Amino acid sequence: MKEKLEQIKAEALERIEEAGALEKLNDIRVAYLGKKGELTSVLKSLKDVAPEDRPKVGQMVNDVRALLEERLENAKAVLARAAREEQMAREEIDVTLPSKKAEIGHKHPNMVALEEVERIFIGMGYEVVEGPEIEYDYYNFEALNIPANHPAKDEQDTFYITDKILLRTQTSPVQVRTMEQKKPPIRMIAPGRVFRSDEVDATHSPSFHQIEGMVIDKNITFSDLKGTLAQFAVELFGENTKVKFRPHHFPFTEPSAEVDVTCFKCGGVGCRFCKGSGWIEILGCGMIHPKVLRMSGIDPEEYSGFAFGMGLERIALLKYEIDDMRLLYENDIRFLKQF
Ligand code: DAH
Repeated sequence: MKEKLEQIKAEALERIEEAGALEKLNDIRVAYLGKKGELTSVLKSLKDVAPEDRPKVGQMVNDVRALLEERLENAKAVLARAAREEQMAREEIDVTLPSKKAEIGHKHPNMVALEEVERIFIGMGYEVVEGPEIEYDYYNFEALNIPANHPAKDEQDTFYITDKILLRTQTSPVQVRTMEQKKPPIRMIAPGRVFRSDEVDATHSPSFHQIEGMVIDKNITFSDLKGTLAQFAVELFGENTKVKFRPHHFPFTEPSAEVDVTCFKCGGVGCRFCKGSGWIEILGCGMIHPKVLRMSGIDPEEYSGFAFGMGLERIALLKYEIDDMRLLYENDIRFLKQF
């Protein structure tokens, strides 16, 4: 029995020594110390040993077990450390390498122009509000005094989602939503995306952006509108910019006007940029129609207001002298980086 134990011990120690891998150590543990392991079977055959020798042999078995366990633990620690060192060497990070530069793109000319327009109006005490791009027919047309059979609806043909829901053709519905939500005095601009079923060309796109403006208070008159837009034009296009109001028609304003600014290229003498006229059209505006005020819950006897709407792309194209709107939608960074 003693020789058998010595033999098992020697053999096991040698195998531990040579293991070289964590999984192998586990196999060795099972082979000797496991339920059906060699040492365990020696323990089981203890009943064949003479009773007086049993304690001694039992002690020997326990000593061998303890030794093997200790050696297995040690070997495991050594191998684990080696594995970790090997991994550290493999995954070494060179912190001195230059970092990868994140491409952060460039602000879109629309955005640059919008921020400029917002800055000007915020400076005059306006707040910036937003409305939904998917809009009710009611807000986009009805409440703006454009009834179902009005010819103005034809000019703004759009994408319908249902009979009553559409992609808004203008930012003017935000006027109505704001009137419903806020009490005068109101001073707001509402920038956002609008949609029309137009073909793409140098000056048209089925999706573009507008900036709406609206002021409602007691005693607001056309001269407030004129003064506001004259100041806006000076701040946006330069000190010597003049404005001209041409009579026009919009269903939601009365009277209505289109506004031209003196060509900032030639100062109004006439050039290729302004097609020789000296003037460039930039927006539509007018005094809010009493019917529109009343429909949105504001008493036209007590309050009056003006509104205006401009195309953001148009402002960007003019300001940065871009001659084709399509360039704005291509997202070519070489183009965008110029502004
Ligand atoms: N919504 C008009 C359009 O898309 C532009 C406009 C004109 C807006 C006059 C206004 C306004 O607020 O008063 O053609």
